[in-house]
Amino acid sequence: MKKLVIEGGRALHGEVHISGAKNAALPLIAASLLAPGIHILHNVPDLRDTRTILRLLESLGLSWERQGSTLKIDGTGLNCSEASYELVKTMRASVLVLGPLLARLGRAKVSLPGGCAIGARPINFHLMGFEHLGVRCDLEHGYVDARIDGRLQGGTVYFDIPSVTGTENLLMAAALAEGTTIIKNAAREPEIGNLIDMLTGMGAVIEGKHSERLTVHGVEKLTASESTIIPDRIEAGTYAIAVAAAGGDAMIKDCDPGHLPSLLEKLRLAGVGLETGDDWIRITTTARNHVTNVVDVTTMPYPGYPTDLQAQFMALMTCSDGLSVIHETIFENRFMHVPELQRMGADIQIDGRVAMVKGLGGNLLTGAQVMATDLRASSSLVIAGLAAAGRTDISRIYHLERGYENMVDKLTGLGATVWKEDE
Ligand code: EPU
Repeated sequence: MKKLVIEGGRALHGEVHISGAKNAALPLIAASLLAPGIHILHNVPDLRDTRTILRLLESLGLSWERQGSTLKIDGTGLNCSEASYELVKTMRASVLVLGPLLARLGRAKVSLPGGCAIGARPINFHLMGFEHLGVRCDLEHGYVDARIDGRLQGGTVYFDIPSVTGTENLLMAAALAEGTTIIKNAAREPEIGNLIDMLTGMGAVIEGKHSERLTVHGVEKLTASESTIIPDRIEAGTYAIAVAAAGGDAMIKDCDPGHLPSLLEKLRLAGVGLETGDDWIRITTTARNHVTNVVDVTTMPYPGYPTDLQAQFMALMTCSDGLSVIHETIFENRFMHVPELQRMGADIQIDGRVAMVKGLGGNLLTGAQVMATDLRASSSLVIAGLAAAGRTDISRIYHLERGYENMVDKLTGLGATVWKEDE
């Protein structure tokens, strides 16, 4: 196993290019199950998670090839409706095959994902939604066995909480249903807009893109199409916060600043220098390892502040002069980075879903041996390591490799001293 080593305290300069979004690539790859023929996807990041979903597609009978960041997936060979525990347990987004399998085969047997490092994360909304489309869902031996005789039937689905993958699963199922499906309180994340564009290109009829009410007029057949994955807003946000925390002057390129409204506002409030263009963000700081203003954060569904950037912002707030209150409303257990940040000298108290971060007021975090616990917690430790004095060793970096493409090269390109080493 590898660990990541960072010699902290160096300002970041230069530019970094953002990859395609993991959380858009996963549903778009799953959507290629919906139609035979060659689906072409551009700007697909090469990550542990995208490899996992491609292995899952292979196990269902599909074939694929990658040329650079372009994937060609042949949806013709689909011959299996079962996603095994082995694949689903390594990546809960594997549940995204449920909707397409039901739409195309009328049957899907998918292992229940179980809990994960950030919370219980049930899939009851997905199943309730399928039931409104006429599907019978049984839970047996750790698997969801979902089936319908004939075509899915359009229906009305209301989500208690806007669920990202729940909305995506329902959209994919409803695209091939008989009649009209309405999804109320749908999630509005940009990745859903990317999926709607792909489905529309395949012949689906969907109204309400970017809104909380989506109307899908089912069609009998979809055809393979060509799509481009949107830039990864969480990767872009992570590098923006890293520059703000370590100090420096850097351009974050090939991103979409319009997908980061809340983070950019928080960085502005924190006193970080910020300029944006159509596809870039420039971050400049006047002092190293120090932000002038304290900012509070409450995570919310899009366009609110993303839970996937909560841990990273907490690392930044350790570099402030006052008390920042960080409220995690999406996942009940997403403070696993706190004990690790404390090992680096951070002053953080947790009370339920609220973390109070007392900035070090000009003192630096100190490098330490820490452990990555999930994807975004790991990136907050990287940010802390970049801002800290001395050496930080982050173990279990396979978590980082799930969602950040070429992170070591990208950070090195910004002037950081960082490398991988055997544990
Ligand atoms: N929820 C339920 N029942 C459900 C579905 C969701 O109670 O059936 C709850 C969840 O427990 C959570 C809330 O609803 O409290 C929202 O969860 P959501 O379903 O939106 O999360 P998700 O679709 O499982 C996606 C991303 C996550 C990201 C969340 C929130 C993908 C593949 N994953 O997960 O990304 O944190 O939305 O924005 O799109 C990451 O990339 O590190 C990551 C965890």
